[in-house]
Amino acid sequence: MAQPQFTPRVFSGIQPSGGLTLGNYLGAMKRFVTMQDEGSFETIYCMVDLHAITVWQDPGKLTRATRELCAGFIAAGIDPERSILFNQSQVPEHAQLGWIFNCVARMGWMKRMTQFKDKAGKNAENASLGLFGYPALMAADILAYHATHVPVGEDQKQHLELTRDIAAKFNHDYETEFFPLTEPVIEGAATRVMSLRDGSKKMSKSDPSDMARINMTDDAEAIASKIRKARTDPEALPSEAAGLNDRPEARNLVNIYAALADRTVDAVLAEVGGKQFSEFKPMLADLAVDKLSPISTEMARLMQDPAEIDRILGRGAERARAIAAPILAQAYDIVGLVRSA
Ligand code: TYM
Repeated sequence: MAQPQFTPRVFSGIQPSGGLTLGNYLGAMKRFVTMQDEGSFETIYCMVDLHAITVWQDPGKLTRATRELCAGFIAAGIDPERSILFNQSQVPEHAQLGWIFNCVARMGWMKRMTQFKDKAGKNAENASLGLFGYPALMAADILAYHATHVPVGEDQKQHLELTRDIAAKFNHDYETEFFPLTEPVIEGAATRVMSLRDGSKKMSKSDPSDMARINMTDDAEAIASKIRKARTDPEALPSEAAGLNDRPEARNLVNIYAALADRTVDAVLAEVGGKQFSEFKPMLADLAVDKLSPISTEMARLMQDPAEIDRILGRGAERARAIAAPILAQAYDIVGLVRSA
């Protein structure tokens, strides 16, 4: 739907819970950089620390993971001058608007969220209230900036649909067109990077097996060894994408290759079709090391100066608040909350 009244603005977030994976990089961060560099959007990227604590985090590790994630953003190509880069808890408007959305979202909507069901597992009674309300805070992250576009991986699609439902219900309940109906941007070859051990499972930072994922901090040897040991099937690679149907592990490795090389799956298969995995895996390992090691080296360098990272986050938060505070104030007015001048 055309929404000419809203400035083209991108918002997206990543949780600082554990380290960054290749899934986060290809499904999200690499695309954040493209959207920043294209220049047609104002770009706002956030380390969502308040979302991370919906499951218990060791405080020291949370602090470190937040700084490391910031280093990851910068090392991957996010320029904290051209984009706004900050951690969520330094902009209280997220939690404030999140409360309003807790009152807009319905229990039934939240209960349908597959991420809640997956994360809460069998013991949902013991999950935090924050984990249940998580998507309302996520809607607030986005709508506090009137963001029009949100680049994410496939697993966030349902949350973005809920964000639209919340915006629509708020607009309807208060007879306004205040919040935009945000467009999810789920594009490219790697919107769902799968585990290296099981092609039916998402690559995730919480997978108990470290061999299932590539971490952005892995060294060249670890990356090569994980790719060498990645599960595959015995067939040679096909020359066309249709030949990857019913071959989830093969498809995953080809998708990763295409995303890292900035090429389409068809272009990759035109080149590697007919090759055995014994030949393709070293090609993929070389490409992955080539693309990822400059990022991990730069992350390690940036992490040597945590005070500078904190300064960048603080400056980003100030710029973020300059956008979010007036939007929150208007939302308060619409709802009828008294604000003394
Ligand atoms: P999080 O921290 O789990 O993941 C961050 C981003 O990485 C993407 N991603 C993947 N993409 C492809 N393949 C994978 N295996 C893979 N694993 C993760 C995710 O889709 C996401 O884009 N709820 C969000 C964080 C969030 C947010 C927001 C995002 C909070 N507020 C507002 C956008 C807008 C999350 O848990 O992402």
